[in-house]
Amino acid sequence: MQITDVVSLEVEDGIGFLIVNNPPVNALGQKVRQGLADGIAAAQADAAIRAVVIIAEGRTFPAGADITEFGKPPQPPALPDVCQIIEDCAKPVVAALHGTALGGGFEIALSSHYRIADKGAKIGLPEINLGLLPGASGTQRMPRITGAGPALDMMLSGKPVPVARGRDMGVIDEIAEGDLRKAAKAYALKLLKMGWGRRPTSERREGFKDMGAYNNLIVERRAELQKKAKGQLAPFKILDCVALAADPSVPFAEAMKAERAAFMECLASDQSKGMIHAFFAERQTAKIPEAKAATPRDLNKLAVIGGGTMGAGIAVAVLDAGLPVVMIERDAESLERGRANVEKVYARNVAKGRMSEAQKDAVMARWTGSVDYGVLADVDLVIEAVFEEMEVKKAVFAQLDAAMRPGAILATNTSYLNIDELAATISRPEDVIGLHFFSPANIMKLLEIVVPAKVTADVVVTAFDLAKRLGKIPVRAGVCDGFIGNRILATYRRASDYMMEDGASPYQIDAAIRDFGYPMGPYQVSDLAGGDIGWATRKRKAATRPPEERYVQIADRICENGWFGQKTGRGYYRYDGRVSVEDPEVLEIIAAERKRAGITPRDFTDDEIIERYFAAMINEGCNVLDEGIALRPLDIDVTLLYGYAFPRWRGGPMKYADMVGLDVILKRIESYAAEDAHFWQPSPLLQRLVAEGRTFDDLNKGN
Ligand code: 3HC
Ligand code: NAI
Repeated sequence: MQITDVVSLEVEDGIGFLIVNNPPVNALGQKVRQGLADGIAAAQADAAIRAVVIIAEGRTFPAGADITEFGKPPQPPALPDVCQIIEDCAKPVVAALHGTALGGGFEIALSSHYRIADKGAKIGLPEINLGLLPGASGTQRMPRITGAGPALDMMLSGKPVPVARGRDMGVIDEIAEGDLRKAAKAYALKLLKMGWGRRPTSERREGFKDMGAYNNLIVERRAELQKKAKGQLAPFKILDCVALAADPSVPFAEAMKAERAAFMECLASDQSKGMIHAFFAERQTAKIPEAKAATPRDLNKLAVIGGGTMGAGIAVAVLDAGLPVVMIERDAESLERGRANVEKVYARNVAKGRMSEAQKDAVMARWTGSVDYGVLADVDLVIEAVFEEMEVKKAVFAQLDAAMRPGAILATNTSYLNIDELAATISRPEDVIGLHFFSPANIMKLLEIVVPAKVTADVVVTAFDLAKRLGKIPVRAGVCDGFIGNRILATYRRASDYMMEDGASPYQIDAAIRDFGYPMGPYQVSDLAGGDIGWATRKRKAATRPPEERYVQIADRICENGWFGQKTGRGYYRYDGRVSVEDPEVLEIIAAERKRAGITPRDFTDDEIIERYFAAMINEGCNVLDEGIALRPLDIDVTLLYGYAFPRWRGGPMKYADMVGLDVILKRIESYAAEDAHFWQPSPLLQRLVAEGRTFDDLNKGN
């Protein structure tokens, strides 16, 4: 019997199967909620049904509330009410889970009386990743079964766990090996035979056995969050709700009201708007114009040229994806270093117990190395990661052109160089693309896919296909100095240096940026990355720097002392291992530079630092968009979120700009232009958007 378009009820041997079928992930939209509520009523009314099994078609049990409904007017029945209807069912209800039973989906399961799961299924409460808390009884029902520890681990990390772990926690009763529907039916029949009836989770108390430990944990986690999640709303609300769950003076229904109120407060916050934007944005970036017109080429064997920081990291990313990789280096000694760089990563995994020695050997067996380009004849795609020098790269590309088969793809990991120029030097520019990984390449999720003028569409879609196989988040970028990310970085770093020379200390700037939500400020990042890299770039670019451009020399003075950051024990900070302290000598250098430049230092408030830093970031983001280097504002957001540690709960710089107001940002830029009209030129796109009353969100939607 069809209950709604997406929920049906089938009866088999006394068991009523309430089946959800709402592809792709069975999200709990209005029709699913209505179907579950009405389906339970129908099952209760049907004398032929003795027990109910809630199960889903397709790839997964419901993966959560329908996120696209958030922010729209509520459409009853609300999910917490549906959960209560399930729990109140007079006949035993079994949830049969497969795929990823997440968020509201797992809350449906927790509201059922019993839970059976396919052995490959995962369960989780990932709402925190959307700036939310479980809002359909997760904060109330889960701790009743597991106590505070496992419930808080799941809700505060947002990470799904395998069902075997769920069984250990007590939230999964049975694990099914074969066909889930058959196993669920057998389980339901067993319950009936044994006379095990309804088991409402809201009446369970085993999680409250040791209230001392429960309350201590809340106190401990609150202290941790005050350090780790300062300024964030959802984590603290989760704690409050889990604490309330165990308060004997608060009835379940009251605590549910409090959970609902907390959920609605989070949903209304900019934080959840930012994170929900990030969730959809990271799925949108793979939607590119080329996808319509082309199919990816086959990729079976990959190669990297260079086994340094990036080449080795890329090789690990490829190996981790289960593919073979060939590494080419310039001589035997460098090749051995490259191999050792790769092996080091796996040796660390073994040391940390993440893999066995045998697994490491099996992975390393897919690595081969050579100094002879001849071995590349059967390779489908090569990623060049040699020194950042055009002439070196051109020489490498000439050898690749000679060695590789027709139809193979030649990619470069260059950070800044002009890929059109590089492609033009070989016989097949249509096969050349940029694959800009971030360091460490096996860890960082972002992959900028840089599309030169002559490349064909199928090469572009192959690059996106590769990104997926490597577990990366791809962003399509055009060719320019620094592409999307490094170009915008260079601009806001300059804004930062100007503030430093004008009177703010690097320590104040770092602290203000950390307070905004970054894990580190720009000068800490510089010390971590090594000041020598930027210094070399600045020297290389000195000849072509426009004379009207303000140039701050403080970083050069610091580098001239050999202070390259953490690796030399000194940079903007002094280091004792990884512990850093502010350095009065650096402040002296800055003071001397201000004097040399004729600047009388002034005070900056933290707010002004934030305003200028992000105005520069957003303005350059607009230029990048206007020039077609990025497809949409959301591509910039994803780049900054995944490559540059922009705080996810602020959604990315362009989303943040929409929230601040584009007119406010433009006014700030115009006021700064009075002191430096060359740097603070308002982007024409920003001016147009403000004049037309449009937002970046409009551009994301194609309006
Ligand atoms: N609501 C609406 N759409 C959703 C969705 C959801 N909960 N989850 C996924 N989708 C959409 C995606 O946007 C994507 O759409 P597209 O094809 O148009 O781009 C499509 O479903 C497929 O998703 P993925 O590409 O992410 O598929 P994967 O197989 O890689 O991943 C997944 C599947 C693990 C379920 C992943 O999509 C995911 O993590 N989803 C979100 C889960 C989540 O956060 N659930 C909690 C929601 S909040 C909640 O439940 C509140 C409650 O407590 C009241
Ligand atoms: P690196 O100096 O660590 O490694 C370069 C490697 O290339 C060395 O091992 C060297 O022996 C090898 N090499 C040089 N010439 C060669 C040739 N002709 N044939 C074969 N091998 C050769 O440099 P790193 O940091 O790995 O950078 C490589 C590229 O990646 C550069 O283009 C850089 O701009 C880019 N990049 C670097 C990032 C970083 O954070 N280090 C981030 C993203 C891109």
